[in-house]
Amino acid sequence: MSILVVGGAGYIGSHMVKRLADQNEEVIVADNLSTGHRAAVDTRAKFYEGDIRDHAFLKQVFDQESIDTVVHFAAFSIVPESMEKPLKYFDNNTAGMVALLEEMRDHNVKRIIFSSTAATYGVPEKSPIEESDRQDPINPYGESKLMMEKIIRWADKAYGIKFVALRYFNVAGAWPDGSIGEDHGPETHLTPIILQVALGKRDELSIYGDDYNTPDGTNVRDYVHVVDLADAHILAIKYLKDGNESDVFNLGSSTGFSVKQMVEAAREATGEKIPAKIAPRRPGDPDSLIAASKKARTVLNWNPQYDDVKEVIKTAWKWTQTHPNGYDDRK
Ligand code: UFG
Repeated sequence: MSILVVGGAGYIGSHMVKRLADQNEEVIVADNLSTGHRAAVDTRAKFYEGDIRDHAFLKQVFDQESIDTVVHFAAFSIVPESMEKPLKYFDNNTAGMVALLEEMRDHNVKRIIFSSTAATYGVPEKSPIEESDRQDPINPYGESKLMMEKIIRWADKAYGIKFVALRYFNVAGAWPDGSIGEDHGPETHLTPIILQVALGKRDELSIYGDDYNTPDGTNVRDYVHVVDLADAHILAIKYLKDGNESDVFNLGSSTGFSVKQMVEAAREATGEKIPAKIAPRRPGDPDSLIAASKKARTVLNWNPQYDDVKEVIKTAWKWTQTHPNGYDDRK
């Protein structure tokens, strides 16, 4: 039986595919390459190009392959873009999930691991955030993912499709040998932008606001290494295969870093100056997002290897230095 990774050509999906292939799993990747890269997909995986909203495409993949588990990364994830184009997010993320679940139901596939997000909490009621805390998103991206969580719960009740929803905090880093990494066009995420400044590809970093309700006034986020994240998915697959009930887990490091602290850590990790200036706030940014990830550690036995944000940045730096133009496949 194989594992279908939808969105397996994207940043997090490609790390998951490599991790699964290293464990000798049979991996099928489906990706529409709208933001992903064909070159990011490990050669041991079988690749289908297509869109999860396209029923005929999905049907073909499920008909041709013996799939028993789906891992879903095929969502848009840029908070500021979602503020400007909310319908794009509800279409691809929320409606895409419905199409995928319909095909899973019709092909009797009973397990799905899917990427949810810290953005479903909105402005947290307390910190660190626990899984049972209130979810009240402040941007369409978070709302689209909250809707996906709700839809999947009902699909479980009606069709017995078991799920694990993993609420990621801020994912960073790259495969340690620098062979795959983060490449979005245009890039909006903090770590790759900082490293583009370090590399000299950008003149300076704009820090979006220093008047937030945080110790140094800049947004605080919880950064987790992409390979640790992939490992959590592998444990989540095992959790469902062992017959456990559907559940939701936060994935973070439980430590918050401000934007200014990230810049400082990157200066130390790279030895570069990294000029930065204060710029206006970016819409949709909550002050602080820090995960309580005890549940993933105790229930899934998740044991993240990267607990030092400098080490996380170093892996991304290796990718950036060896791939200054990313995958170099922009159309
Ligand atoms: N930031 C800057 N300058 C930049 C880019 C980012 O100051 O040039 C700041 C942002 O304002 C924010 C922080 O750096 O405070 C992190 O921003 P990112 O864009 O890297 O990440 P987000 O926190 O917006 O979102 C990420 C993922 C989401 C996820 C969220 C959960 O992209 O999918 O983390 O914490 F939901």
